[in-house]
Amino acid sequence: MRILGIETSCDETAIAVLDIAGSAAKPQVRVLSNIVASQVKLHAKFGGVVPHLAKREHQKNLVPVLLRALHESGIRNHESGGRTVAPRDSRFKILNSILKREPDLFARMVPKVTALPAPKVDAIAVTVGPGLAPALWVGVNFARALAYLWAKPLIPVNHLEGHIYTNLLPYDQNDEGDENGKVAKRFHRAQRSIGFTDLIVFGFPALCLIVSGGHTELVLMRRYGDYRILGETRDDAAGEAFDKVAKMMGLGFPGGPVIQRVAETGNPRAFDFPRPMMHAANFDFSFSGLKTAVLYTLRDIQKLTVQKKRDIAASFEQAVADVLVAKTVRAAREHRARTVMIGGGVAANKKLRHQLGMALRRSYPSASYRVPDLSLTGDNALMIALAGWFNRGKKRSWKNLGADANLRLDTPH
Ligand code: KG4
Ligand code: ZN
Repeated sequence: MRILGIETSCDETAIAVLDIAGSAAKPQVRVLSNIVASQVKLHAKFGGVVPHLAKREHQKNLVPVLLRALHESGIRNHESGGRTVAPRDSRFKILNSILKREPDLFARMVPKVTALPAPKVDAIAVTVGPGLAPALWVGVNFARALAYLWAKPLIPVNHLEGHIYTNLLPYDQNDEGDENGKVAKRFHRAQRSIGFTDLIVFGFPALCLIVSGGHTELVLMRRYGDYRILGETRDDAAGEAFDKVAKMMGLGFPGGPVIQRVAETGNPRAFDFPRPMMHAANFDFSFSGLKTAVLYTLRDIQKLTVQKKRDIAASFEQAVADVLVAKTVRAAREHRARTVMIGGGVAANKKLRHQLGMALRRSYPSASYRVPDLSLTGDNALMIALAGWFNRGKKRSWKNLGADANLRLDTPH
């Protein structure tokens, strides 16, 4: 089955094409293309993602990203340059109504996309939530427009489900990746040349710690597509805490990669920051108190030397890692998880990856521990296409698909 995936839930415009073969017990994947256009530089100026700018950039980027994804995958049919849909054509009106809230995207789509012959894909998978509503809707409506134009079914995907499924792909231990794991070039080149790769299936029950800019959740899976949220954050997400602390320290956006870098030469025991809810009987998290503790420390410190900054970054990172590791290990033991994994932007954090692995080996060695390749921790469409394959029973028509900014893993979509 060939799936085109589309992801626009936050500040990355991403499209990927995958071939997936085999059964759920032994799936194999071939990555034909995986394109990510990042808006991070634009949002960095504002210290965070600005939803209406994200929408504007997605409208600008989706068509070029699509053309590149089709071109790289080699599935674009070059021989027949068809005719673009003209204003008097009924398809023009329908496309216009699908994209009525995305007029810039419509204006780019008509000349560049409507003349293309339908590519050889079996379905279009798209992120329907959770995320920023204006950003999500651009991707969903673009997917609907393509599904209409090419007469293809749509598969709705939960963004967090995508993050979980990145753990199915083999992890290249020699690849330190780029700083925030956004570009997957080396990986895809390798993938294309080697053809189909076996996915490493999960042992159930499987436990995933999802840590991203918007979410922190411990999720238990009894099978693919079956998610139980054991606990989640009551205030800030882990990535959000990294971003806010980095902002307080004047380190820029996004905070995770820069805190990790600054923390490398700091002492993680220099400041005794709180570990909120670490010993609570539940699996919920809270990071806003920790953030406030860092704020007070910064305020009260006499002279904020470079070394003190490093120590604060390292101590903060350690406090976050300690809480995440302790709760994940306890959840794994309590629920007898056979596979334990992490997903989301913060899964790029080296301290977290390493210390969770060590803690599991020490306290729960029977679990198989997985981390995603660093090229796949950030938002991408490869993971959306992959999750789409597992959701292939949920095909929908372009007529009735919408975005849900607050979509949860434990409610159907
Ligand atoms: O999954 P993601 O790319 O976007 C969302 O779905 O939210 O996650 C982005 C988050 C940001 O908060 C960013 O600061 C954090 O992931 N992040 C990290 C690291 N790299 C990215 N946090 C800690 N350490 C990192 N190395
Ligand atoms: Zn994400």
